[in-house]
Amino acid sequence: MSRMLVTGGTGYLGRVVVRQSAAIGHTVAATHFSQMPPDLPGVIWLPLDVRDPQVIEEAIGQLRPEIVIHTAFQQSGPDLMPTTAEGAGYVARAAAAVGARLIHMSSDVIFDGELTRPYREDDPPAPISPYGLAKARAEALVAKAHPQAVIVRTSLIYGFTPIDRISRFALDVAAGRVSAHLFTDEYRCPIYVEDLAAALLELAGMSYHGILNIAGADRVSRYELGRLIAQAWGVDPADIRAGLSATTLPPRPRNCTLDITKAQALLRTRLRGIYAVLRDLGRIEEMEG
Ligand SMILES: NC(=O)c1ccc[n+]([C@@H]2O[C@H](COP(=O)([O-])OP(=O)(O)OC[C@H]3O[C@@H](n4cnc5c(N)ncnc54)[C@H](OP(=O)(O)O)[C@@H]3O)[C@@H](O)[C@H]2O)c1
Repeated sequence: MSRMLVTGGTGYLGRVVVRQSAAIGHTVAATHFSQMPPDLPGVIWLPLDVRDPQVIEEAIGQLRPEIVIHTAFQQSGPDLMPTTAEGAGYVARAAAAVGARLIHMSSDVIFDGELTRPYREDDPPAPISPYGLAKARAEALVAKAHPQAVIVRTSLIYGFTPIDRISRFALDVAAGRVSAHLFTDEYRCPIYVEDLAAALLELAGMSYHGILNIAGADRVSRYELGRLIAQAWGVDPADIRAGLSATTLPPRPRNCTLDITKAQALLRTRLRGIYAVLRDLGRIEEMEG
């Protein structure tokens, strides 16, 4: 078992990584920023701002983790670049300095979504949004500071306890609390948070380095995803309206389907598509997919 550090331990993915990690016997330290940390037996919590390189160096220098899983980020706002890009570079540099294995979380929105086949690990970033730009810069900084790092590109992360923000939005749209169209021409490969965390922990114990796509096996449109989520929560999806990403400004990456062949060959953890997850959890009856 290893000494593990999870940045963004209060985040949606981070919490599950921390919980699973402690459950399999790792010694877990985790960071929080604006939220109070949850009470998880045996987990050491430390406040950390990834914009501050000195604080990161000191924290990682003292903890001397063998594995760092970096999930902390900001999706927008003035702290986007300092946190999401520069902060990732600082974490990578500090992890490299103590010889820790690093798993850095990246995103499918580093792509413009215009490719007509699924994106592979060797496809170069081509971001079209500020968030995509920050995540692409983070990848470059991480690779430079820690050449042995694993850069995991993933897709929409969903779960049930608690509900994630994408599912919450879909339920709000289905119930008419929010007025929005869900796109029929924007494709992603949503991954169940428990599967993603398990895959990351399996990867932590391996020697693989470089980029790896880890996403769910099903490619679905935002509209299809919204309908599925509504059904999974027992909400009638009939009122979800369909729209087109192609006619929306600013432009959004439309087809960010990730090719997960490599991860499927490498990992024992099943990267289930959303249909399989919802069936396995008994949230939908037999459906196509
Ligand atoms: N969610 C998705 O659908 C999705 C899709 C693709 C890729 N990803 C990637 O997966 C990772 C995790 O995403 P998530 O949705 O689980 O994140 P999240 O729930 O938004 O959590 C973000 C975490 O970052 C921490 N944080 C924010 N600013 C910080 C700062 N300046 N210093 C230190 N920590 C800071 C937050 O701490 P506090 O809460 O304590 O403030 C929180 O723990 C991210 O790298 C993201 O890019 C996510």
